[in-house]
Amino acid sequence: MARPVLFLACALALFACSSAVASAEIVEHSFHVQNLTVHRLCHQRVINAVNGGLPGPLIRVHEGDTLVVHVFNKSPYNLTIHWHGIFQLLSGWADGPEYATQCPIRPEHSYTYKFNITGQEGTLWWHGHVQWLRATVHGALIIHPRKGHSYPFPKPYGEIPILLGEWWNANVIDVENQALATGNAPNNSDAFTINGQPGDLYPCSSHDTYKLEVVYGKTYLLRIINAALNNQLFFKIANHKMTVVAVDAVYTSPMVTDVVLVTPGQTTDVLITADQPPASYYMAAHPYASAAGVPFDNTTTTGIIVYQNSKPSKPLMPALPAFNDTPTAFKFNSNLKGLVNGPHWAPVPLEIDEHMFVTVGLGLVACGSKKATCAGPLGQRFGASMNNASFQFPTKLSMLQAFHGNVGGVYTTDFPDNPPLVFNYTDPNNSFNTSIVMTTKSTKVKKVKYDSTVQIVFQNTAFVGLENHPIHLHGFNFHVLAQGFGNYDAVNAPKNFNLVNPQIRNTIGVPVGGWAVIRFTANNPGMCLDAALSPGCALAMGPSNRHCRRERAHAFHNLATASTRSTPLLIYRIVVHFSTGRELNCTFVIVVFSNLLWFLFMRGRAKLSSCFQ
Ligand SMILES: *[C@@H]1O[C@H](CO)[C@@H](O)[C@H](O)[C@H]1NC(C)=O
Ligand SMILES: *[C@@H]1O[C@H](CO)[C@@H](O)[C@H](O)[C@H]1NC(C)=O
Ligand SMILES: *[C@@H]1O[C@H](CO)[C@@H](O)[C@H](O)[C@H]1NC(C)=O
Ligand SMILES: *[C@@H]1O[C@H](CO)[C@@H](O)[C@H](O)[C@H]1NC(C)=O
Ligand SMILES: *[C@@H]1O[C@H](CO)[C@@H](O)[C@H](O)[C@H]1NC(C)=O
Ligand SMILES: *[C@@H]1O[C@H](CO)[C@@H](O)[C@H](O)[C@H]1NC(C)=O
Ligand SMILES: *[C@@H]1O[C@H](CO)[C@@H](O)[C@H](O)[C@H]1NC(C)=O
Ligand SMILES: *[C@@H]1O[C@H](CO)[C@@H](O)[C@H](O)[C@H]1NC(C)=O
Ligand SMILES: *[C@@H]1O[C@H](CO)[C@@H](O)[C@H](O)[C@H]1NC(C)=O
Repeated sequence: MARPVLFLACALALFACSSAVASAEIVEHSFHVQNLTVHRLCHQRVINAVNGGLPGPLIRVHEGDTLVVHVFNKSPYNLTIHWHGIFQLLSGWADGPEYATQCPIRPEHSYTYKFNITGQEGTLWWHGHVQWLRATVHGALIIHPRKGHSYPFPKPYGEIPILLGEWWNANVIDVENQALATGNAPNNSDAFTINGQPGDLYPCSSHDTYKLEVVYGKTYLLRIINAALNNQLFFKIANHKMTVVAVDAVYTSPMVTDVVLVTPGQTTDVLITADQPPASYYMAAHPYASAAGVPFDNTTTTGIIVYQNSKPSKPLMPALPAFNDTPTAFKFNSNLKGLVNGPHWAPVPLEIDEHMFVTVGLGLVACGSKKATCAGPLGQRFGASMNNASFQFPTKLSMLQAFHGNVGGVYTTDFPDNPPLVFNYTDPNNSFNTSIVMTTKSTKVKKVKYDSTVQIVFQNTAFVGLENHPIHLHGFNFHVLAQGFGNYDAVNAPKNFNLVNPQIRNTIGVPVGGWAVIRFTANNPGMCLDAALSPGCALAMGPSNRHCRRERAHAFHNLATASTRSTPLLIYRIVVHFSTGRELNCTFVIVVFSNLLWFLFMRGRAKLSSCFQ
């Protein structure tokens, strides 16, 4: 279990103990990933979970701490743990994405993740990163301000993680494998959950419904995390307003709302005050399903807020937005503003070195051999695509090892800055336009120089269907300058860019049939050749070469012990290298989650023959 180990970094440092690093600690955990028998929805099931809990262990650190997690894989599956949203400065090899930064940890093997958490505070989370294991292998990762620092809002009376999850009455790996075998979309989930429990609206679930007791008059910080696999979720509490104060571990200007929208991977911190007549109130979540005509799990999960000393009462239920309420979703997302000059605030870069325009959506990949029968539209396979490239996982080496070892033939560096064909991206008439809907598999990378500023316009396409696609950047936060519907207007849209106080985050849902503009600086600074192992790092500006070599040796040792072959990634990525223009390169990764996309990724899996032989 958790074994926080304290030591004073200042004792080792040459400078005075009063410096900011004086309070840095080492926080150490052991994760035993193993079978766990649970009862949900009238069924008994064996799931994979960490340390016997669903959700798994809550990790608490302070900004500036070092986190060490020993992962013991006692599950029957290969796995890695991804530290969603952590910058991983100088420790990119510890980020977790299999075949990007490490090989999976095989059953009966272990691996130690070690990294510093600097320059960010708030709510993040960790999750399993091979196949669909993250459905049950996940937990909250909370970064408190350094000792002596405070929140940019009054200290709440209580802080409560609210993990929204997704539940199948089946082994999730079976669900995934069945989809692979049949070519059909994976089965929809059977429930959503709040802190592991579906709640009163599902059969056999009332007894275990998540309950939060509150004291009248007090204010609480709810740290809402969307740990669902495929669904964006609306979250609401009966009769209580929420004040959003942070998203993705970045502070926001306080925003009062009665509904929150969270995309898979995102987090939202809200303050609520227990100022209603003492009684019981439901908190509830159900999907925001933007793709018209695509079946989804339309159930609703609930938890109960119970006022201390209130008479037992039937909880009041909030009225959630309709499943397809895009105006409410858009209003929530576009009204969020950054907290200018708040802790860790970063101003918007005004000079742009790299302009990218990237279409995001589905496409079709040729069925392949003449004998094969494919169950996708037009008898083809689904294939998610960005700028008409559908990502193919390497088959021999991870991209990082290929980069490090200068091994050719694993990827190409020609990911285009613009779509190869300009067309009416959001015209539903193009959904099955056979002259343009086909795409092909490739492993394309975009290189950018260290410290360059990058602007990316993400444009949803109508291929197969319009859908809101969440996009997650590994190793960076980005500013969200603008979002809108229809085709991006390069002349007029920039006039409305928010260059003053845009929200900063690591995951964004690109509006259905619309676009979003993000900006970031490719400055996740490495100091050595860990560049080669990192999803983001770079310039040799810090510690000595000796330090560099040690870090690198350490990384390779870890990789070697954890490594071998396994199934490739199930999520779709564009891997973007950035480099100093000299010998150092870095990689960052854009991840797209979506119901349909998950399916496509699976279809696109290649058989890996080796990894780090
Ligand atoms: C874990 O559960 C799986 C599936 O039920 C089973 O095949 C396996 O034997 C179990 N492993 C252990 C160590 O109990
Ligand atoms: C992590 O923090 C420790 C203690 O402050 C420091 O010694 C170490 O160099 C840092 N490591 C990285 C990779 O930044
Ligand atoms: C998926 O759903 C179908 C239809 O309900 C069912 O027959 C099948 O067993 C399910 N697959 C899994 C892996 O649960
Ligand atoms: C959920 O979907 C089912 C099947 O399509 C439908 O019968 C049911 O009315 C829907 N429930 C809600 C709350 O929309
Ligand atoms: C299909 O797309 C091409 C290229 O944009 C366009 O010329 C053609 O008119 C489209 N076909 C239909 C049926 O919309
Ligand atoms: C693109 O398609 C949309 C949706 O059908 C339509 O409203 C719009 O007029 C089209 N734009 C152009 C330039 O044809
Ligand atoms: C889409 O197709 C319909 C029917 O063919 C046509 O009336 C309409 O003008 C088309 N829309 C666009 C934007 O091309
Ligand atoms: C994508 O590339 C395929 C060839 O691989 C081509 O047939 C198709 O027209 C292209 N579509 C777009 C939108 O660029
Ligand atoms: C895990 O990885 C090993 C080695 O690459 C591979 O042989 C095995 O099939 C993988 N196991 C699963 C369940 O995918």
